[in-house]
Amino acid sequence: MRAVRFHEYGPPDVLRVDEVPDPRPGPGELLIRVTAAGIGFADVQIRAGLMRDVLPDLPLPFAPGFEVAGDVVAVGPGVDPAAIGRRTVGATAHGGYAELAVLPEATALPLPASLDDPTAVALLGQGATAIGVVEAAGLGPADTVLVQAAAGGVGSLLVQLARRAGATVIAAARGDRKRELARQLGAHVVVDSGEPDWPRRAGEAAGASVTVVLEGTGGAVSQAAFDLLAPGVGRMVLYGTASGQPPRIDPLAVYHRGLSVTGFASPALPARRLTQLREQALALGSSGVLRPIIGSTLALSQAAEAHRGAEGRTTVGKTVLLP
Ligand SMILES: NC(=O)c1ccc[n+]([C@@H]2O[C@H](COP(=O)([O-])OP(=O)(O)OC[C@H]3O[C@@H](n4cnc5c(N)ncnc54)[C@H](OP(=O)(O)O)[C@@H]3O)[C@@H](O)[C@H]2O)c1
Repeated sequence: MRAVRFHEYGPPDVLRVDEVPDPRPGPGELLIRVTAAGIGFADVQIRAGLMRDVLPDLPLPFAPGFEVAGDVVAVGPGVDPAAIGRRTVGATAHGGYAELAVLPEATALPLPASLDDPTAVALLGQGATAIGVVEAAGLGPADTVLVQAAAGGVGSLLVQLARRAGATVIAAARGDRKRELARQLGAHVVVDSGEPDWPRRAGEAAGASVTVVLEGTGGAVSQAAFDLLAPGVGRMVLYGTASGQPPRIDPLAVYHRGLSVTGFASPALPARRLTQLREQALALGSSGVLRPIIGSTLALSQAAEAHRGAEGRTTVGKTVLLP
């Protein structure tokens, strides 16, 4: 079968399509013919070698891709063969950018008939994350929330969920195309995070009281957002570092200003909780409440282009490979 792999860490061009033996499902695993493989930001950071401190022992060549949808074509020992032929969506250990992938049965969820494969993949990863982040923030109608990177995969879903929670939504996104998308998704105010005075604009829009920041960017952007939080009530949820920089938050200011800072990381959740979030995301997607933006669909041979888009910040919503 064809699978995308990299043989060395480096720029997107290290991704190439290799001919490799078909994988075989082990005990408790399913083999699926992949119809949609999600590009995750973590894949990009792993390929670039930026996660070697947390994942030091990845065997090279490495086959990236952790989110797939597809049809079950075989099952391993201990799995009911009745699963064969079902549409499913789930999380692989690796190797999702491929024609075939092995999925632990425990992560394989039924794919609702009303959802297409790319949308299901977007809901599985970014949808579950967005729901978890909004829950961690305890968002409600009294809140004014600043959503960073509001046209990104997670950000575009956060805007929708924040509106649904009744909050006033200030979206930060870079450039006209992304700002327009954030507006269409329901943001009350949209500021251009590419302009140096965006924090002032966001602060003015909020009437100087941003009660919640949903932060997946890190670096200087996180610091500016942190400074906007209202003393006594402000909460910040950290869920990513798309800039490659850690969030800049002064612990002393957290205490002096009476703020709360919470982290959300799907891999750190108990398995049962993560499954619940994924099921919730698929259900909200299936009922039309949560609508992932599928920014682009590309062939396996275009994996490098997909990673270039994520790194170059030219993507909106979710990018999906269609093997
Ligand atoms: N905690 C979790 O469980 C979890 C789950 C999924 C993803 N994440 C993390 O959440 C973050 C966002 O993920 P995503 O899937 O929404 O990614 P995405 O769709 O690629 O969006 C990332 C956004 O970050 C902004 N950004 C700012 N600086 C950037 C830079 N130097 N390079 C690239 N983008 C930059 C860009 O928006 P602007 O151009 O508008 O600034 C971009 O649209 C990532 O750090 C990812 O690893 C965490």
